[in-house]
Amino acid sequence: MVIEQAPLEDEFGDVLEKAMGHAVLTPEGLGARSGIEAERIRDAIDYRYDFTPGEIRRLATALELNVAGLESVASGRYPLPVISGLPFCLHPLRSPHGIGTANAYLVSDCRSGTGVLFDTGPATDHLRRIWPAGITRVSAIFITHVETEHIGALADVQRLFGPAPVFAPLGAKLPGAAGLGDGASMECGGYRIDTLATPGHAEAHNSYVVRAPGATQASPLLISGDLLFAGSVGGAFFCSKRLREQVARLLTLLPPSTIVAPGHGPLTTLGHERVHNPFAT
Ligand SMILES: [Fe+2]
Repeated sequence: MVIEQAPLEDEFGDVLEKAMGHAVLTPEGLGARSGIEAERIRDAIDYRYDFTPGEIRRLATALELNVAGLESVASGRYPLPVISGLPFCLHPLRSPHGIGTANAYLVSDCRSGTGVLFDTGPATDHLRRIWPAGITRVSAIFITHVETEHIGALADVQRLFGPAPVFAPLGAKLPGAAGLGDGASMECGGYRIDTLATPGHAEAHNSYVVRAPGATQASPLLISGDLLFAGSVGGAFFCSKRLREQVARLLTLLPPSTIVAPGHGPLTTLGHERVHNPFAT
């Protein structure tokens, strides 16, 4: 069981800015839709806001966001669920990145010294400090998308804990990696790993669903990369429409008990995000 202490990746101002990007709205445009002065919207993007509950609701409606979700983020007390029910050990590997963290994840059976790694984090020095002492070998490495903060330590991980096969999204520019497309399913390291192609943050971006075969009542694990975060979504650097479509797909495709392990910020569950995430619409 894990009670999350990691800070959220995005605050209210970040969520507002991302949602305005999705809707292609300037502060003036959002102001006209919501009846709120553009200057106050600019201040909010800059993390200074004092909106009333009614104004938060008007902003959510104008941006086609989940009203309860925007209220949760605006409160500054975004609730996080207790994480439990996984049939294997999950080790979040959080590395400093910018003003936040970038996450990689190791999945292991809690007994052997072998794990399956999802992303690598940006750099080896920190990764070695937080690496679980009992894990001495990696049997496979799955990459959500090719950005330095998620693959920067790949070569060193291979040297220290490999060699291991590397899997990445189809079309990803990662020499030596095998491409996995939507619907690819494989048994690997004692786990079933299903691939969901989830473009939006990047064109070549996968999420992975991890299950222990035989543990049919257990919660699945969703490695969501930079698609879905607790309380937010990744930046839509490829396409905001497709990113929102993929978020909606994951929220309906997988059970509420699914534990979400995002590329940034804390663990959460899909059921929790359906209620509290501003982008769950
Ligand atoms: Fe990222």
